[in-house]
Amino acid sequence: MSNLKAALLGYGTVGRALHRLILEHAPQIEFSGAFVRNANRPSNGLPLTVRAADLLDDTTLSIVFEAMGGLHPAFELVSTALKRGLKVVTANKELIAKKGAELSALGGSLYFDAAVGGAIPIVSTMRGALASVPITEASGVLNGTTNYILTQMPEMDFDAALRDAQQKGYAETDPSADVDGLDAVYKISILASLAQGQWVDPADVLCHGIREVNLELMAEAQRRNCAVKLLARYRADELSVLPTLVPQDSPLASLHGVLNGAFLSGPTFGDLFLSGPGAGGEATATAMLGDALNNGSAYRLPTAQAQIDRQEWTARWLIAGRLRPGESLPLETLAIAGAVIEEAMEGSIVASMSALSFLGKFEELRGLPCWEQPPAFARFLS
Ligand SMILES: NC(=O)c1ccc[n+]([C@@H]2O[C@H](COP(=O)([O-])OP(=O)(O)OC[C@H]3O[C@@H](n4cnc5c(N)ncnc54)[C@H](OP(=O)(O)O)[C@@H]3O)[C@@H](O)[C@H]2O)c1
Repeated sequence: MSNLKAALLGYGTVGRALHRLILEHAPQIEFSGAFVRNANRPSNGLPLTVRAADLLDDTTLSIVFEAMGGLHPAFELVSTALKRGLKVVTANKELIAKKGAELSALGGSLYFDAAVGGAIPIVSTMRGALASVPITEASGVLNGTTNYILTQMPEMDFDAALRDAQQKGYAETDPSADVDGLDAVYKISILASLAQGQWVDPADVLCHGIREVNLELMAEAQRRNCAVKLLARYRADELSVLPTLVPQDSPLASLHGVLNGAFLSGPTFGDLFLSGPGAGGEATATAMLGDALNNGSAYRLPTAQAQIDRQEWTARWLIAGRLRPGESLPLETLAIAGAVIEEAMEGSIVASMSALSFLGKFEELRGLPCWEQPPAFARFLS
């Protein structure tokens, strides 16, 4: 018997999967229709409309599911629903990362477990079971596309691994949001906001993607018994998305292919590790349905915007490329910037220095004429 009337914004990969899931498993939810751009196509009996007001003006509505993506018109439509006191369930990480502060001030109730880690209940664990205790660290592999590419890479170079990911449907034709780290930036901004109880601006995340990762770096990582992962990390003094060397005995290293996983840490509960499918229509819809049926009594959202201090943390960095015959490593360039060089041999360097100085210097280092294969970097996990 239906007792929750719902509107669906978007009927693509996630919207279609959600419709199917609710028909099969949640008869108490009844969809009035879905808002799309093109309404002339099959929709398994669900009315499609190009006018959002057809759905949102219904005074008997209880829930709005947003599965459109992008900032506009998702922001305006979700705002309208929240101002009316409705429950909104969204999978849209960009919307929550950029507009979470504004949306959470509007009233209604806002749920977004599906925006980070697909079916993995990272957000709902932070907002539910861990809502009353400090969370000092959130770190993980939050982007399946880059993890697939890095998992393939010891056997093939970046370009071949990217093509493979595109052929399998794991990467978009334009892969920049994934490989340059933006998708992971949105996700770690959301986790950081929940952990510190203040909305974090995604522009404050120190980010470098995996586009430059080369086989030399992969070989150096293997030699050190490490895997290379694009790690998103929040700690008191750090907010970053960076290529990272993860020891093979860490659960993070065992995340293969498109799997995602994250550690949540705090003084009262130690380390929790959550992992599973981080994307896909059905997995994402599963998280949205869970949110829809959650009564949310323990769920609180931050109310203020965070002021992030500049990130002056220091790390150890591995740099690996291939020198031209007769050339030597440009150690001076790093030393001048304050690096402490720990190792230097053939095409690889291990150096300690502050994150901001390192990222500033790396581009210059990469552009030097001594390289036959320009270097890539990964920081050591500490
Ligand atoms: N796919 C995943 O595995 C996954 C995983 C986690 C989170 N998410 C998030 O879920 C959301 C949806 O992703 P998706 O993969 O389902 O996207 P999608 O397949 O591209 O579907 C988007 C849907 O929204 C509709 N839409 C987009 N812009 C619109 C506009 N301006 N006006 C009206 N309708 C509009 C589209 O309508 P038309 O069909 O008429 O074009 C389409 O039905 C995104 O926020 C994404 O980040 C996706």
